[in-house]
Amino acid sequence: MSTAPIGIFDSGIGGLTVARAIQDLLPRESTVYLGDTARVPYGPKSPETVRRYAREILEWLLTQEVKAVVVACNTATAHALDDLRAISPVPVLGVIEPGARAAVAATRNDRVGVIGTAGTVASGAYRRALLALRPDLEVVQQACPLLVPFVEEGWLVHPATRMVIEEYLVPLRTGGVDVLVLGCTHYPLLKPLLTHVMGQNVRLIDSALETARELSRVLGEGLAAPADNQPFHRWAATDDVARFASVGSIFVGQTPAVVELVNLKEHRAVS
Ligand code: DGL
Repeated sequence: MSTAPIGIFDSGIGGLTVARAIQDLLPRESTVYLGDTARVPYGPKSPETVRRYAREILEWLLTQEVKAVVVACNTATAHALDDLRAISPVPVLGVIEPGARAAVAATRNDRVGVIGTAGTVASGAYRRALLALRPDLEVVQQACPLLVPFVEEGWLVHPATRMVIEEYLVPLRTGGVDVLVLGCTHYPLLKPLLTHVMGQNVRLIDSALETARELSRVLGEGLAAPADNQPFHRWAATDDVARFASVGSIFVGQTPAVVELVNLKEHRAVS
């Protein structure tokens, strides 16, 4: 079991930021990544729909014999984590609790900003996670739905992206937050622009890194791969594997070598 891979999924390509953080921190571990590119984006979809998608993906990952599952997508974590944990025989981790913990540890003035998709912000999942840790925190949230398409276009330091970020971040700047949680898979790629707009004194919390650390703790409870493990990494998508490979290179700096095409419906029909 300990040589089994870790399952990672996202609505699409953005979760590669989480996959990369996991591979960097845990180089002995194998991974199987599924990007639901046929149904991305999850951000504007209803909680029920996102929960259904997430359950279907969990079922597929379990057939790949993963030993743990990481929900790399903030929106799927926000809507579906409890559901998935209730039905999964292996540990399921989301990105929200680790991000919230890091934010609480980092703030000095007890004002924390959160940016994410419309679904993540509307769910209130980050606010709940933060307040569960520190009930006296002031939490300022802002949905930034336009940022995902800008990142997928590769416009990471483009003037148009900067204008949109400046507009979105007004409430966070006026709210005086000293920590900003990047509550979406795509936002770590916008760190230079976000720092430029928020200023050097605002700490950016990258959930990808914190989630990899949390996974390391969970695996430490008897699930870690042995020192001589020869890790493998599989990439899969539910549509347009060519685009996955090319846009994926924005996220991981290199094109994933082979991307498998997975049809979740067919898989359900035969399993
Ligand atoms: N992966 C999503 C998230 O982290 C962003 C893209 C989408 O809307 O599906 O919330």
